[in-house]
Amino acid sequence: MASTGKKKIAIIGGDGIGPSVTQEAVRLLEIYRDRARLPLELWELDLGADRFLRDGTTFPNQIQIAIQRECAAVLLGALGDPRVPGLEHARDILFGMRFGYDLYANVRPVKALSDRLVPLKDRRAKDVDIVVFRENTEGLYVGMGGQFKRGTPDEVAINEDVNTRKGVERIIRAAFEYARAHGRTKVTMADKSNALRYAGELWLRVFGEVKAQYPEIISQHLYVDALCLLMIQDPSQFQVIVTNNLFGDIITDLGAAFQGGLGMAASANLHYPASPADTPRVAMFEPVHGSAPPLTGKDVANPFAALLTAGMMLGHLGWPEEEARVEKWVTTAIDERMCTVDVGGTLGTRAAAAWVREKLAAEL
Ligand code: NAD
Ligand code: IPM
Ligand code: MN
Repeated sequence: MASTGKKKIAIIGGDGIGPSVTQEAVRLLEIYRDRARLPLELWELDLGADRFLRDGTTFPNQIQIAIQRECAAVLLGALGDPRVPGLEHARDILFGMRFGYDLYANVRPVKALSDRLVPLKDRRAKDVDIVVFRENTEGLYVGMGGQFKRGTPDEVAINEDVNTRKGVERIIRAAFEYARAHGRTKVTMADKSNALRYAGELWLRVFGEVKAQYPEIISQHLYVDALCLLMIQDPSQFQVIVTNNLFGDIITDLGAAFQGGLGMAASANLHYPASPADTPRVAMFEPVHGSAPPLTGKDVANPFAALLTAGMMLGHLGWPEEEARVEKWVTTAIDERMCTVDVGGTLGTRAAAAWVREKLAAEL
């Protein structure tokens, strides 16, 4: 990572609504850089479907290495474009960072900012405050497998579910460490060990070993199907959830529904150092939502997930009070309906984000 005092941030807007919501987050970071004098250097990268369709570039090795060497963080919009049905570029870029930088912890807060946004009967914002630790480098996502006799009546398609001792242990430990550091008293591990015997047994055994080292924290094991039921019945019973890559992906879209939709859900992709000798890794921040092709170019996409994601990045870079400030003004925007239609407002993407930035900038 760069040894200058500056924190360099690579910006990848990506596809669909990605560039427009990311641009709003970049404008927020520019305010922090120019007005609050935070030592931020922004580096915009031309990567995504347009670039891929133009010259075949997905995620060049030199860029991947330069980001790791020079940047403290990456801010990503979203990837996925109907013009690239195979999503080659999206996988190369997204997994090139998650796997390439070994960002094993996908940290996704499921936090509702306003009672109005919680769609569950008799539930309020205070009932929705969960942090999901999604394993981010293994599972069904590794791309191992293949196809056989493709296009024939006998065809076979296999995706292997890879679970390593190291991978399972470090994400479970990360969840418990987070709980301990943030005063959370309960960690729930969700798997499907009743059906997926081998991987499930590893997760269960490692969970048992790790939880014994955190006796002050209540630990709970649930099958992921039951967890979904219980989340909807009463999300307030969960504080920290740790699970594998695929289940974490699904649970956090479900969780986003409790937050007011995907336009409100932020995330971080982190590598917690195993020891002081571990190479520091660049961290990657992205809203939970995708490129939402039908919303593209209409100035309707909710920019708040992107703003909250930029806030998470500021917290990670050493400015937790600024993360709180971003969240405070997004919350106020929701309360005053200075927001997009998906969360009950009438503003467009640009106006909603500008409202938050203006209020926030006035305090800096
Ligand atoms: P999506 O998240 O793009 O959209 C799901 C639903 O949420 C849609 O109804 C959409 O309109 C709504 N939505 C999403 N973001 C919103 C926002 N900011 N404001 C208001 N509404 C919003 O998921 P999808 O439709 O399943 O996927 C579209 C593409 O995005 C696919 O190519 C998919 O692979 C990709 N994707 C990428 C990422 C990523 O890059 N991290 C994440 C998820 C999906
Ligand atoms: C997410 C997305 C990605 C995932 C897709 C685009 C591969 O859904 O970040 O939640 O499944 O991880
Ligand atoms: Mn997802």
